[in-house]
Amino acid sequence: MKTVTYEGMTFDEYISAGEIAQIVQDVAQRIAADYRDKQPVLICVLHGAMFFLTDLMRALPIDCSVATVHLQSYDGTSSTGQVRENVPLQTDIRDKDVIVVEDIVDSGITMHYFKQILRSRQPRTVKVVSLLSKPSELQYEDAKPDYVGREIPKKFVIGYGFDIHDLARNLPSIYALRDNG
Ligand code: IMP
Ligand code: MG
Repeated sequence: MKTVTYEGMTFDEYISAGEIAQIVQDVAQRIAADYRDKQPVLICVLHGAMFFLTDLMRALPIDCSVATVHLQSYDGTSSTGQVRENVPLQTDIRDKDVIVVEDIVDSGITMHYFKQILRSRQPRTVKVVSLLSKPSELQYEDAKPDYVGREIPKKFVIGYGFDIHDLARNLPSIYALRDNG
């Protein structure tokens, strides 16, 4: 089994690069079917979702544009319970069909917070696509993603954009913290 170590913690390969590619294709097909005659704006939630965003965009056979926002709620392996908007959304989304591209929805506080910001900018529609979600942890009903690549149990993951103190994003697979319990 492939393992990596960060900060003295062991992580085991959990979703391989090949499986991620398949998940991205599946999600892209579902989105393409719903947005066939539209030109959505994909808002990438930096930094975690940048890998998913670029792969997803290339898998989408529809016209779409990109925008970014930098939100932060995690520190290390746990949520701070607060969302920081480090770099706000600069793009005008009024009357646009918006798809927020997120790496993972955990408690949902990030999406709950960002949806409030989006609403004030008056887009035509808003949907959320998340590569992963941890449904057992969801605390905000309005944060539930419209498209999910894969649901996972409560695990801390790194790789393919997911970080631990800003490292490990460049691992091609997703790794999960080993449960020693
Ligand atoms: P939420 O706000 O609690 O839903 O958490 C969502 C944000 O926390 C995501 O955008 C990630 O940046 C981060 N996050 C949640 N779970 C993990 C994880 O397992 N690994 C790395 N980052 C995570
Ligand atoms: Mg994030």
